Amino acid sequence: MSARPLSVAVIGAGPAGIYAADILAKSDIETSIDLFERLPAPFGLVRYGVAPDHPRIKQIIVALYKILQRGDIRLIGNVIVGEDVTIEDLQDHYDAIIIATGSDKDSPMEIPGVDLEGSYGAADFVSWYDGHPDYPRTWPLEAKEIAVIGVGNVALDVARMLAKHPDDLMVTEIPENVEKGLRENPVTDVHVFGRRGPAQVKFTPLELRELGKVPDVDVIVYEEDFDFDEGSQEAISSSNQTKQVVNTLTDWVMRDEEFTASRRIHIHMMQSPVEILGTDRVEGIRMERTELVGDGSVRGTGEHIDYPVQAVYRAVGYFSSPIKGLPFDDVRGIIPNEEGRVLAPGGDHIPGIYATGWVKRGPVGLIGSTKSDARETIGHLVEDAKAGKFNHEPVRSGHDAMTKVLDERGIKYTTWQGWELLEAFELALGEDQGRERVKVVERDTMAAISRGEDHDGKLY
Ligand SMILES: Cc1cc2nc3c(=O)[nH]c(=O)nc-3n(C[C@H](O)[C@H](O)[C@H](O)COP(=O)(O)OP(=O)(O)OC[C@H]3O[C@@H](n4cnc5c(N)ncnc54)[C@H](O)[C@@H]3O)c2cc1C
Ligand SMILES: NC(=O)c1ccc[n+]([C@@H]2O[C@H](COP(=O)([O-])OP(=O)(O)OC[C@H]3O[C@@H](n4cnc5c(N)ncnc54)[C@H](OP(=O)(O)O)[C@@H]3O)[C@@H](O)[C@H]2O)c1
Repeated sequence: MSARPLSVAVIGAGPAGIYAADILAKSDIETSIDLFERLPAPFGLVRYGVAPDHPRIKQIIVALYKILQRGDIRLIGNVIVGEDVTIEDLQDHYDAIIIATGSDKDSPMEIPGVDLEGSYGAADFVSWYDGHPDYPRTWPLEAKEIAVIGVGNVALDVARMLAKHPDDLMVTEIPENVEKGLRENPVTDVHVFGRRGPAQVKFTPLELRELGKVPDVDVIVYEEDFDFDEGSQEAISSSNQTKQVVNTLTDWVMRDEEFTASRRIHIHMMQSPVEILGTDRVEGIRMERTELVGDGSVRGTGEHIDYPVQAVYRAVGYFSSPIKGLPFDDVRGIIPNEEGRVLAPGGDHIPGIYATGWVKRGPVGLIGSTKSDARETIGHLVEDAKAGKFNHEPVRSGHDAMTKVLDERGIKYTTWQGWELLEAFELALGEDQGRERVKVVERDTMAAISRGEDHDGKLY
């Protein structure tokens, strides 16, 4: 190997990209690492996915912050790889590239009526309430009765955020436009639908229990939705997590109490969506009752149940976006790879290109899982570098030449120091309102504050 450090571009400053950069920086090879991020703010879904009323989880940002604050990993924000710079540009400047772009949109769902007004993807709603700069500033909260399809943790977040009274969110960092929208929300009933049984829901125990503690919101489950087959029994006996979730749901169905709250979350199971009803906009949802077949999967019974709802949120999983210049698996929604080594259509590893995080293995797993994932990818990168498996010519110029290209193209990139300016601005905004932080949403304003430039004060 040549004497100069290995220059590496990591794409995406979510947990996967930051952990990968950190593990690589601490490896036994000398490196020079640039971390590209499309937004002026780092931290990915921790900032733009984790619900605002989960401050404990948002605290993971403190650990990620410490990694980037060291200064050996350079953040280059507000740069979209595939648009502002191409993969080819990066190959010209770096020895290796690690793709950690996560999953940014909803998994498609093909049922009649899915395109009606009032039918929304959960990812879009989450991006709105978490103040993502690339999403609309207003959200049509007009429905009194709402359906949420899916029984994963995103469905729980969406149902809770829809049902929670805005005063209970004022301690959080929600931007002003989100507060305004939520104050006009007339919702009374949120119906969450799972297509399988209680032992197949994908909620985690803590998150489910939390739902039962939301002020002035009752959680209602139904006895007729409880069924267990052999697969269910196996799932309960082999996973403590499943056991806890089933226990919580069972406690709720057994309790004998009057529901007096002004808002309700109904958890329905064993019902699969057939059609979203309505002519111009959502007027209802048709579900089919299902039955377990033995291994935890279900089949339809032909019995239909219609629910009057005026909005439907599809929380059936996330999906990644392709990056121009790289292969993409349209079915799984990932960049094809073998343990993080990105594969060309013929199945060969593309030298010097790696993937990690949700874009590597799909949109499942908690933040912590991106760390072990990064360990595997970086293990292979280091192994390949030592084996001389990719281009590592002595003259590669890395960071300075790359930022020169960005300057020449007029791209207003941001840096770690810029993030610290934006962070100080958001904290000060929060202090003015007696809150810890208030997010700035407008991308141009975020970039201007980060770059120490004048801005027109438009915060969202
Ligand atoms: C709604 C929601 C709530 C969640 N809540 C929790 C929770 O409470 N606790 C928990 O443990 N896990 C939670 N998760 C899971 C957690 O967010 C993921 O495990 C984790 O964020 C995946 O990390 P990642 O880095 O792969 O992707 P991401 O976090 O999505 O990061 C990818 C980064 O890449 C950037 N990027 C994308 N494309 C480009 C491009 N072309 N050029 C440059 N940059 C690009 C993005 O802007 C983003 O910053 C939640 C997930 C969702 C969807
Ligand atoms: N607080 C937290 O810790 C938190 C918060 C949010 C997200 N996360 C994590 O982020 C990851 C992604 O969460 P997620 O909720 O998006 O995904 P998920 O856990 O995979 O849940 C997706 C849900 O959608 C259902 N579904 C999929 N296709 C469907 C269809 N066609 N019709 C009806 N239902 C359908 C699935 O049912 P089947 O099982 O039957 O397929 C499942 O219940 C998970 O690992 C989650 O734990 C964590």
